[in-house]
Amino acid sequence: MSASEPDAHWNTVYAAKDVDDVSWYEPVPATSRRLITMAATSGRVIDVGAGASGLADALLPAGYDVTVLDVSSNALEQVRQRLGQKATYVVADVLTWTPVDSYAVWHDRAVFHFLTDPADQARYVNQATTAVQTGGGLVMGTFAPTGPESCSGLPTARHDADSLVRLFAGAFTLEHAETDEHVTPWGVIQPFTWVVLRRE
Ligand SMILES: C[S@@+](CC[C@H](N)C(=O)[O-])C[C@H]1O[C@@H](n2cnc3c(N)ncnc32)[C@H](O)[C@@H]1O
Repeated sequence: MSASEPDAHWNTVYAAKDVDDVSWYEPVPATSRRLITMAATSGRVIDVGAGASGLADALLPAGYDVTVLDVSSNALEQVRQRLGQKATYVVADVLTWTPVDSYAVWHDRAVFHFLTDPADQARYVNQATTAVQTGGGLVMGTFAPTGPESCSGLPTARHDADSLVRLFAGAFTLEHAETDEHVTPWGVIQPFTWVVLRRE
């Protein structure tokens, strides 16, 4: 992704599309939910690049303290209309945001893979390293090596568990890896790589 003006791109997407009319829509965020439980059973969770996802809705009843961060205010407004003050909202570019809290879990589904520039990937790792508390978890789902080469008109960097482990080495170690197939609302299969990394 170009680091310049991602908010304009994503705000246009969320203004034009219904929540269930985007390729990444899933009615139940089952993999995210299960792996977040593996990472921590309580505490602060930040969903980075949350979009209009229903993940926060699924985490709140379990007692997590949920923050949703997205570069698109339009996306987070959809979440706010559902959840109001039950969640914390941060409209920011994850690469330039200044974390003020530390988190038990950092969750990212289908956001990191838009970072194709190694310098942006390194910036992201630095942000996660700052924001995740020692012993906390990072749950990440990206397009797998056989996944799509682009999404929403943007190129993607596809990863297997080894490439994610290498990129986050130094601050995070691998706890769990799996593969998954997301099925888009129009029936296209998208292979994903999922990891749970532990903050050292
Ligand atoms: C493919 S969508 C995935 C949304 C959500 N994670 C889900 O699984 O439904 C990618 C999301 O990342 C957000 N995003 C893209 N680049 C971002 C950045 N640099 N900082 C914060 N959010 C970003 C977009 O606005 C969008 O909501």
